[in-house]
Amino acid sequence: MIRFLYGIIFTLAFALAAIVAGVYLGALPAGADAKAPGLERWAARTSLHAAIDREDVAYKNPLQPTDDNLVAGANLYGAHCAVCHGTSDGKASTLAKGFYIKAPLLATDGVEDDPENETYWKLDHGIRFSAMPAFGKTLTSEQLWQLTMFLGHMDELPPAADAAWKKLPSATVTPAP
Ligand code: HEC
Repeated sequence: MIRFLYGIIFTLAFALAAIVAGVYLGALPAGADAKAPGLERWAARTSLHAAIDREDVAYKNPLQPTDDNLVAGANLYGAHCAVCHGTSDGKASTLAKGFYIKAPLLATDGVEDDPENETYWKLDHGIRFSAMPAFGKTLTSEQLWQLTMFLGHMDELPPAADAAWKKLPSATVTPAP
């Protein structure tokens, strides 16, 4: 029994030493142009979904998807999201092309089928280990719901909101200095 315990302790100590050595030797990929290993992707995604399932029941959308709210959502998207998630042409910005964890281009790879509470949670808290920021402290709850509804209705926008969405300049355009 005691040998078995020593075996476990030795193995754990060896694994820990190998990780620490890997960190000091720079053997762990540190650049953003590396591909995320499967284990890392699995751990990040599984814990994200578990956290959302546990916490998103607390949210309740107080707004209706009116023209005004969807137009406001499109404009907020242009100001805060387009640089990473692109606009209606579905093209990535220079910045977005360099991410370690790629940001989905929401015009073509949208989240219309996701429950509203799940999208709201992501906007409120952001997504750890990725470039997705937490907007809970910078935008109001009303603005977050407007964005959430805009994303949820992207494939069936009423004319006013569709016009506001199509008017957003391509994310590939470099802003004037
Ligand atoms: C600096 C870059 C950046 C900005 C700005 C940004 N995001 Fe993200 N976003 C990301 C990245 C990267 C991911 C992918 C994270 C992942 O896959 O784990 C992401 C993921 C998401 C997702 C989840 C997509 C899915 O398929 O599950 C949603 C929804 C989202 N962002 C909405 C927004 C909205 C709305 C805004 C603006 C208020 C915004 N993002 C601003 C980088 C950004």
